[in-house]
Amino acid sequence: MSHLQNLLLDTLLGTKHVDSAALIRLQERSLCVASPGFNVMPSDIRTLVNGFAKNPLKTRREGLYFKEKDYKCVRADDYSLYAKNENTGVIVVKTHLYLLVATYSEGMYPSVCVEATEKLETMIAVHFDKPGGPENLYLKEVAKPSPGEGEVLLKVAASALNRADLLQRQGQYAPPPGASNILGLEASGHVAELGAGCQGPWRVGDPAMALLSGGGQAQYVTVPAELLMPIPAGLTMCQAAAIPEAWLTAFQLLHLVGNVRAGDSVLIHAGASGVGTAAIQLARMAGATPLVTAGSQEKLQIAEKLGAAAGFNYKEEDFSEATLKFTKGAGVNLILDCIGGSYWEKNVNCLALDGHWVLYGLLGGAVISGPLFSKLLFKRGSLITSLLRSRDKKYKQMLVKAFTEQILPHFSTEGPQRLLPVLDRVYPVAEIQEAHEYMETNKNVGKIVLELPQ
Ligand SMILES: NC(=O)c1ccc[n+]([C@@H]2O[C@H](COP(=O)([O-])OP(=O)(O)OC[C@H]3O[C@@H](n4cnc5c(N)ncnc54)[C@H](OP(=O)(O)O)[C@@H]3O)[C@@H](O)[C@H]2O)c1
Repeated sequence: MSHLQNLLLDTLLGTKHVDSAALIRLQERSLCVASPGFNVMPSDIRTLVNGFAKNPLKTRREGLYFKEKDYKCVRADDYSLYAKNENTGVIVVKTHLYLLVATYSEGMYPSVCVEATEKLETMIAVHFDKPGGPENLYLKEVAKPSPGEGEVLLKVAASALNRADLLQRQGQYAPPPGASNILGLEASGHVAELGAGCQGPWRVGDPAMALLSGGGQAQYVTVPAELLMPIPAGLTMCQAAAIPEAWLTAFQLLHLVGNVRAGDSVLIHAGASGVGTAAIQLARMAGATPLVTAGSQEKLQIAEKLGAAAGFNYKEEDFSEATLKFTKGAGVNLILDCIGGSYWEKNVNCLALDGHWVLYGLLGGAVISGPLFSKLLFKRGSLITSLLRSRDKKYKQMLVKAFTEQILPHFSTEGPQRLLPVLDRVYPVAEIQEAHEYMETNKNVGKIVLELPQ
């Protein structure tokens, strides 16, 4: 509310073009803020809202009367209505959330009101002007999105950082067509508005978390209603923000791509990463045996606490040999690999006969040199690649539905089977540069979360 009050005081009354002003919230048809002494009566609110709902030409022809019929409509279009009496005018400007009503003195310039109203529709978002390092990131006031057909506007409480954000910032990972340019693949918050034709269970005010193609690191983001999920009971907004991208990725890699079966052994690289910490728990839940690699003892210990049967420090030992030893020479049935280039030979060495090797990241580079094909063929191995962000809406809807039904309840059940989103640090979004720098040091165990100003 204070943002709106400030807007009235500074941007409108402060200009001296405007005598008095009020804001009407369209959805509730109620006055939300007005300058002293300027009260818009409920009957006037109805008249004004109906004026915009009608064909603007008809409104103009029939007239729009406001305040004891002192004001007559002299102009109407989809965006603004001008009404006039002899000495002063009234301008009404509509955005998708508000009507702004202001009186202005004869001879003043009413477009000030249109400009001010446009400012109502801004929000703070993480932004960068050119690709490069974390120092390029800053918070910028940008246009607030409005939900399209079948979409929901989410007021973001928290979002989480992903490696994709670092790549996008470096200019190496453009958002898919149609996606927001703003960083952020996941968010939690409250439903702020429903777009036309939203038929699901969502209501304004509901807490929710969302899988996004972008846009999460802002105060508001739009998302197809089917990509929203309820927040499991007992979880905070920050914990919820850490779920969608990492957990849906891990769930997809294990079940839809890797076809994990009870009794399988699964080697999970970067076992203490956001995706890794989710994959360990989901592999356990599927009845498989998770093994992990990580770059420090501390990370391996946490992975083991989450359910890893064994962990190998790839900086100190050959994980391939250690894996073969653990599996008594059989190798693993499934490898979840976000490293790529630097691991290819060790991966294929410890892959079981007919094993699946799922490549979903390239932290260790994209270039290889050596007899990959012959080694893979000898194992009758399958090398499968996977990217979630660029999948189409239908696939993501199916994935979110399956995850919501099969996995989400386990974040709230008591007992050893309970799933846990692992959070490393929470940063206020204003510290976005520090958050990126921290992820680049490879120190995080689990997710790095960003809190948005409310
Ligand atoms: N394909 C998809 O749909 C999809 C979706 C989400 C994420 N991803 C990918 O999944 C990976 C993990 O993402 P995240 O956000 O969970 O990451 P994260 O939490 O930042 O963890 C990444 C960890 O990987 C390890 N690492 C980094 N460079 C390495 C290297 N050259 N060799 C070996 N280990 C290395 C580091 O841990 P150590 O200390 O153990 O070395 C680092 O902390 C990323 O590659 C990301 O792009 C893919």
